[in-house]
Amino acid sequence: MKNIPDFQVWKADGRPITMVTCYDAATAKILEATSVDSILVGDSCAMVVHGFDSTVHATVEMIATHVAAVRRGAPNKVIVADLPFLANRKGTDFAIDAVDRLMKAGANAVKLERRKGNLQLIEHIVESGVPVMGHLGLTPQSVNEFGGFRMQAKGDEAARILVEDARMLEQAGCFSVVLECVPGSVAAGVTAALRIPTIGIGCGPEVSGQVLVVNDLLGMDGAFQPRFARRYAKLNETIANAVEAYCADVRTKDFPGPGEYSAGKARTLTV
Ligand code: KIV
Repeated sequence: MKNIPDFQVWKADGRPITMVTCYDAATAKILEATSVDSILVGDSCAMVVHGFDSTVHATVEMIATHVAAVRRGAPNKVIVADLPFLANRKGTDFAIDAVDRLMKAGANAVKLERRKGNLQLIEHIVESGVPVMGHLGLTPQSVNEFGGFRMQAKGDEAARILVEDARMLEQAGCFSVVLECVPGSVAAGVTAALRIPTIGIGCGPEVSGQVLVVNDLLGMDGAFQPRFARRYAKLNETIANAVEAYCADVRTKDFPGPGEYSAGKARTLTV
């Protein structure tokens, strides 16, 4: 089984790190049999699974439920769980209770968005024996501040601040940092400035690893295809075709066929 300290080794060895999100036991069971290094139970579950328009709607209970399901499906994978919106801003007790619930649900580490105002808490969580992954750039919990899901750190000053933030996260004890939707040159600069690995999404190739939302990778939503999310399947079409084929078979009474049920002995039943 891979583990959190492996992230450091992978960066030192220049071995690209693979991570995908996952929210349910059935998909986790498939991932368990793949070589993917780690699973992120992201607060993106609020959007992808629950249909909300942002991750602001994720709760500790929601994420803990998904972590437990993913752990049952993937007993041997490294699982990182997101601390949801404001869970890190309601005082240390609330935050530590949230971390406790996510870890007891089966996570190996937690992920926390942004640097500002979070360093002490990150140190406290790390000192408590829980690995923390940082998250900078387009931090989706701040979508209202950004005015939409927009590329961040485009200007020189913003890029400089991003590198500084990443260094502070490293100093606070983070074992890795997700960089989301910042220019490739900025992601490359952050990656070079850090000892710990960077995991990119929408940041180009010069990072230590990549993370994708599993539903995007699988093409579950035909209408949603961000530029950075390469589709490796078109499951929306595969699923729709399978359901249409099933409906057609039911209507023509082709399903269920011989061998797909037990006929029982010939008999006449009276009521
Ligand atoms: O919640 C999530 O899926 C994430 C990834 C986009 C990195 O944070």
